[in-house]
Amino acid sequence: MSRKPIIAANWKMNIGPAEGAAFIAEFKKLTDCSFSCDTVIVPPFTTIPAVLDALGECKCVGIGAQNVSQFDNGAYTGEISTSMLNELGLQYVVLGHSERRQYFGETDAIINAKIKKSIAAGIIPIFCIGETKDERLGGQLETVLDTQVKGGLEGLSADEVANLVIAYEPVWAIGTGLTATSKEAQEAHAFIRQLISNVFGADAAAKVRIQYGGSVNPGNVDELLAQPDIDGALVGGASLKPDSFATLVKAAK
Ligand code: PGA
Repeated sequence: MSRKPIIAANWKMNIGPAEGAAFIAEFKKLTDCSFSCDTVIVPPFTTIPAVLDALGECKCVGIGAQNVSQFDNGAYTGEISTSMLNELGLQYVVLGHSERRQYFGETDAIINAKIKKSIAAGIIPIFCIGETKDERLGGQLETVLDTQVKGGLEGLSADEVANLVIAYEPVWAIGTGLTATSKEAQEAHAFIRQLISNVFGADAAAKVRIQYGGSVNPGNVDELLAQPDIDGALVGGASLKPDSFATLVKAAK
């Protein structure tokens, strides 16, 4: 089963509208809008319209949101709904990022509700999971991944799971310059795929794309992407400059 690689830029709380528009103009020049992976940029909410404008007719990059509410609409100050993302035509939403879990109290149950809401709205979740350093050192890697996968994906059909994107991001590798070795990453990805197979069946497991995230950069991307169960990357720091992100996108074939 060949899975099309997917490279996503998670800009986090960086890059305002003016810089976002300039980034897209430069990125289009550097790549000629032609590459062989799916490419996604996930800007802060208020940057999204400028990025969409700068892309214009060009559909080479899919745009995503960094979060979405599990509720429809109404008295939820500070939240953004799936229908608002639909109105902008967004294709993806990052859910369950470790920074949302750690700083904003998102639980597996909340993430599960957001994933269901997004799928119902036709938006592809990029569902993030991963262990902390203490959990890995304490031998809990597999238990943590098992809990996060089963909790986050509870109640989904095999088809729904096949069509979403999972991002394995060891928390200790995010923004730290530390990366899992390609062997560690491959082992975790293989474990996640087996887990998906056990719960949702072999077909969903063969189809679901699993990105690696955590200090991916132009120097380590080739080795990571060469692993059989690594289908792309979710990139923070190295996605903030057009030349570096263009290099990553070109590496994925
Ligand atoms: P990083 O972030 O590439 O800066 O480590 C990855 C992420 O948090 O998605």
